[in-house]
Amino acid sequence: KIIHVLLTGGVGSRLWPLSRKSRPKQYIDLFGGYSLFELSVKRNSAFTDKLNVVGNIHNQDLSVAALKKLGKIGYSSIVEATPRNTAPAITFAALEAKPDDILLVTPADHIIKEGESYESAIKKAIRLAEDGQIVCFGIRPEKPETGYGYIEHDDEDVVAFREKPDLDTAMSFLKKGNFLWNSGMFCFKAGVFLEELKKFEPEVYAKSMEAWFQNKNGLMDLETSLKIPSISVDYAVMERSEKIKVVKSDFEWSDMGSFDAIYDYLKAQGHPVDENGNMVIGSENYTAFVGLQDSILVCTSDANLVLSREQSQDVKKVYSELESSN
Ligand code: GDD
Ligand code: MG
Repeated sequence: KIIHVLLTGGVGSRLWPLSRKSRPKQYIDLFGGYSLFELSVKRNSAFTDKLNVVGNIHNQDLSVAALKKLGKIGYSSIVEATPRNTAPAITFAALEAKPDDILLVTPADHIIKEGESYESAIKKAIRLAEDGQIVCFGIRPEKPETGYGYIEHDDEDVVAFREKPDLDTAMSFLKKGNFLWNSGMFCFKAGVFLEELKKFEPEVYAKSMEAWFQNKNGLMDLETSLKIPSISVDYAVMERSEKIKVVKSDFEWSDMGSFDAIYDYLKAQGHPVDENGNMVIGSENYTAFVGLQDSILVCTSDANLVLSREQSQDVKKVYSELESSN
């Protein structure tokens, strides 16, 4: 069986105030009638036999509503008691599957253009996964983005996987030329993943198992879950495993992780930008920018944000400050 594992745990703090704890970005209808969550379900259903949504108690209702809207029946879901990052989230899905099942793991918050190149990338990945490899999808990098993982590669072979380098390192990767961005999607056999995790992060493996087997009526125990080290799959497995292969992918891909990415996407869609590169999101009001360049005004019904495009990554600081002042 091929299972689509949809990771929907993040809150999207870099997209505040569009993205809220009560409605994380993957559930917002920003993109022509469907949310990113819904688009991801639709996009991958052609390649997979089953859907497994891995989220948490805070967004479970939003996931159920989105799946209902799509008329999706016969999916399963895993409800985490608390987010422990992607390594544990994927581990739960792997524990639920049979060791030989192929997991196609995707985030719920990306924009991807489906079509032939997407289809061929997925099919290639599934073939490699059937041979026992752990597959990631490499995207040609456009700038020294520090929020992504980089894959140093030689054709399908991965020389090294480097999660979130600093700016100087990212610039050197771009110069060298044989580096790709990690798209955040993965494909592997459930059993192969668990073996590798056990090898490199025995603690994450053991504690995730413990939480999983204390699962009552589909709910995991909070206290046990809090003992799982919080670590992403990139650091836990991708940077260390020797079974990694990369499928170089030509499909259009954007991680809608920050306003910088949203800006690029909306601009390409024809959303207005003034002569100094300023953009308004979320309001039809006539807006003038004086003395500002490459800035973004984000309007919502109860909070606005003005930011310099270059500092999109820092929005999460505002989010954290608001969180801690609550
Ligand atoms: N269920 C669940 N539980 N899902 C989670 C959790 C969790 O605890 N934490 C994160 N997720 C989901 C997020 O909602 C998102 O869909 C996906 O897993 C990836 O997590 P992010 O937190 O968005 O990761 P990232 O963007 O910092 O980095 C990853 O994605 C990049 C591309 O977008 C890495 O894989 C990078 O290497 C990659 O370049
Ligand atoms: Mg992300």
